[in-house]
Amino acid sequence: MSQRISLTRYLVEQQRMEGHIPSQLRLLLEVVARACKSISQAVNKGALGGVLGTAGSENVQGEVQKKLDIIANEVLIEANEWGGHLAAMASEEMDGIYVVPNRYPQGEYLLLFDPLDGSSNIDVNVSIGTIFSVLKKPEGDSGVEESDFLQAGNQQVAAGYCVYGPQTTLVLTVGDGVAMFTLDREQGSFVLTEENMRLPEDTQEFAINMSNMRHWDTPVKRYIDECLQGKEGPRGKDFNMRWIASMVADVHRILTRGGVFMYPWDKREPEKAGKLRLMYEANPMSWLIEQAGGAATNGKQRILDIQPTKLHERVSVILGSKNEVERVTRYHSPL
Ligand code: AHG
Ligand code: MN
Ligand code: MN
Repeated sequence: MSQRISLTRYLVEQQRMEGHIPSQLRLLLEVVARACKSISQAVNKGALGGVLGTAGSENVQGEVQKKLDIIANEVLIEANEWGGHLAAMASEEMDGIYVVPNRYPQGEYLLLFDPLDGSSNIDVNVSIGTIFSVLKKPEGDSGVEESDFLQAGNQQVAAGYCVYGPQTTLVLTVGDGVAMFTLDREQGSFVLTEENMRLPEDTQEFAINMSNMRHWDTPVKRYIDECLQGKEGPRGKDFNMRWIASMVADVHRILTRGGVFMYPWDKREPEKAGKLRLMYEANPMSWLIEQAGGAATNGKQRILDIQPTKLHERVSVILGSKNEVERVTRYHSPL
């Protein structure tokens, strides 16, 4: 790329040329990016910044919170509450919604986030990230309630994530393809490094936590079993495996070079639809993947068409290269 295009310029041009981004949404995305920059700084300091280890509390899902889960959550709230672009926020780390306080103007957008994805990787210095999804508050009602958030993923107006890895990269869609930005630490700004990310429709790489194999359902077992048989098996080719245990990093790899990611429903906790959360993990990632030419289902239907019934709803996730996702989904349908 001959001329460097900053995130700010990219968003201004999107607003000007495509009409995809109203000015309030542009502000929102800039603010989220700024918050990610500051989370990135905290992540980089590691032990020197006192950010490692557990906070000694649990979130609404019964998971032990790490210090960085809480720090990232606070950074995102503080950055976003005063700008006038939001009505409310929802987060993996908060039981209910966070309504913008009365002292600030209320905007028309709703922001959902997983402030720190891949918490088990924080203390071992492996890539982690932030995932976010933006919805519009339904028109008509003056206040804002949790039910306003319960919209299917196909209603998202923006979605993205930031990976804190060897590089800090922000990946974004506003419904016009997927753009990737890399943080230039000297300049302090995100610079466009890939304009139209596309993932291949075929792949020979899968991502799943194999230690759960004995708990899987038959269609998932069948798919992985066929992959493992390699050249001699029904697929007639060898497969490779990757599992980072940070969805954000696994999805980033898949957006970059293809692959299929699965965190399916399993028999450990059969009453739960899956481990991952629909509204702030699966929905934004599914939209990004679809925008880049991939697919995302829960085995039975397109994730983006699922009507959520609660904020912290869980979902079975199969996403990535189109032909593999379609195959796994086909294996789920009754003969
Ligand atoms: P979070 O850290 O936000 O709770 O999410 C962790 C998720 C996801 O990022 C990852 O794919 C998965 O949990 C890893 O789970 P396992 O440890 O069961 O492999
Ligand atoms: Mn997560
Ligand atoms: Mn998290």
